[in-house]
Amino acid sequence: MRAVDIIAKKRDGLELSTAEIEFFVRGYAEGHIPDYQAAAWCMAVLLRGMSARETTDLTLAMARSGKVLDLRAVAEWVLDKHSTGGVGDKTTLVVAPLVASAGVPVGKMSGRGLGFSGGTIDKLESIPGYRVALSHAQFIRQLREHGIVVAAQSADLAPADGKFYALRDVTATVESIPLIASSIMSKKIAAGATGIVLDVKVGRGAFMKTLEMARELAQLMIAIGQAAGRRVAAVLADMNQPLGQAVGNALEVHEAIRVLRGEGPADVRDHCLTVGALMLALAGHVANLEAGRALLARQLESGAAWHTFVTWITAQGGAATVLEHPERLPQAALIEPLPAPRAGYLAAIDAQVIGQASVVLGAGREKKDDPIDHAVGIVLHKKIGDAVERGEALLTLYANHADRLAAARELLRDAWQWSDSPPSPPPHLYEIIPAELAT
Ligand code: URA
Repeated sequence: MRAVDIIAKKRDGLELSTAEIEFFVRGYAEGHIPDYQAAAWCMAVLLRGMSARETTDLTLAMARSGKVLDLRAVAEWVLDKHSTGGVGDKTTLVVAPLVASAGVPVGKMSGRGLGFSGGTIDKLESIPGYRVALSHAQFIRQLREHGIVVAAQSADLAPADGKFYALRDVTATVESIPLIASSIMSKKIAAGATGIVLDVKVGRGAFMKTLEMARELAQLMIAIGQAAGRRVAAVLADMNQPLGQAVGNALEVHEAIRVLRGEGPADVRDHCLTVGALMLALAGHVANLEAGRALLARQLESGAAWHTFVTWITAQGGAATVLEHPERLPQAALIEPLPAPRAGYLAAIDAQVIGQASVVLGAGREKKDDPIDHAVGIVLHKKIGDAVERGEALLTLYANHADRLAAARELLRDAWQWSDSPPSPPPHLYEIIPAELAT
């Protein structure tokens, strides 16, 4: 077999065999196939697409390029959730302890933020002492002892995906549904959870800009997971405006703490109840979504979810006093409001621009190894549909450098669309797949 023939076959729109896909993935992971051939192949896949069978083969080949954890020895059900990436998405911080507090273990490996979209590991690192790097033995021990663990994805899980993803990032080949689906699912399968809920974000602040694309991605990922013997469901959720109010690492941890203590924005709470209930329904722990939401609402109100959150964070070395006193999280030196340039109703907020402005402030990274500033970010005071007076604060900027503050302010000037009559805000949730889990 030759790499060049496999590239040409895909370039000509033909279906690759399982053996050809395995040859290509192994060859690239082991360094026999160079970057330029892998880049040409990714572009051919982006332009020509892949069948569901090819995508499943690609996923399994990438998952098997490294270690595949088997968590069935820990419990029959170990749950995971994965967001396809958004702005202000602190769902894992709330959902993981919420679900674990209801008695089903949650074992999750998470990523860092890249570009305008944030990452759970960066958020958790804003808690002093929290250890994100765990060995597989430590990951499994904590899961057994506490029923909850969230660590950084280890380098030996799906290493082929790590190589392909870095290449795709610089060859304009990220935006391919089969490549995204196989990238996400190879890591999920390798991390060992038996039940996985995919939180597929749709809209301006997400990879998937339309509901149709999000649905296609979700259905493909569910089929791949099932082929690998996992139970998988998906929520299609709005990302036209940030989730909640806070965007930025410590600010988002603070917001998650508020939700876990029964406060915080209603959209975050509602989304977390849905994602968590779907996780419990997947594991057969509740009869349906409604029963799951009711159970989890009780876990929030009774303080059980908060208790599990404190147990989890402190088990991984995080400072308990910071959880009780979130004002001790990293704090920004410069705090300034952004006044509304006019009166009216907010018709749209460009979530991508909000995400980019938070990166400019230092909350995210443009390049993989950029350092981040945990204290900085944005807190929105107005969301779509809200009435605004001229000069009223649309948001507050948290910064540590005056030049970055000025650059973010400039970027945010065009992030808004206005209406003179009240527009209806977008729904938080579009769809649950499979639909029978929604009833
Ligand atoms: N997230 C991933 O893990 N992979 C992709 O390709 C896109 C988003």
